[in-house]
Amino acid sequence: MKALVIPTAMILIWVLISMSCSGKNETTPIPIPEPSTGQQAPQPVVTPEPVAITPVSDDPGFKLIEGADCLACHKIDAKVIGPSYQDVAAKYTESDIDQLAQKIIEGGKGNWGDIPMTPHEGLSKDNAKQMVKYILSLKK
Ligand code: HEC
Repeated sequence: MKALVIPTAMILIWVLISMSCSGKNETTPIPIPEPSTGQQAPQPVVTPEPVAITPVSDDPGFKLIEGADCLACHKIDAKVIGPSYQDVAAKYTESDIDQLAQKIIEGGKGNWGDIPMTPHEGLSKDNAKQMVKYILSLKK
């Protein structure tokens, strides 16, 4: 019996060694060392602006603006037909709320160019003021 045990054990050891060796050989090429892009994580690319605008859209003034035709001519941060709301916010202060609300209702031109804003006669003064308060809140 002993004569059989030793060669069997040696065969087993060889099998184990060759298996563990071939196992290592299979795992060694697996490492994918391309961390060169690791430092350019995509997170910093995300600009904070959309994040800043999202909570603002809960503003009742923004809801009114969204529900009216304003955004056809105005954008928050870019001139379309009318000036951007950020530009309007930079030009005026709280003391202009009344006058600006009146302008939205009556329409008019001259403060930003020759293109007139259409009148919004159906709009109540309170709602117009609410819109202006939101626009002025965009002041940077
Ligand atoms: C037909 C396009 C148009 C629509 C619709 C429109 N606007 Fe305007 N808006 C303009 C233009 C053009 C001006 C610049 C007027 C000027 O030069 O005085 C302007 C100016 C303004 C101003 C600044 C006014 C001033 O005297 O500086 C505010 C505030 C404003 N719009 C808010 C609104 C709101 C709120 C609405 C929606 C109820 C609205 N706009 C809808 C075109 C539009």
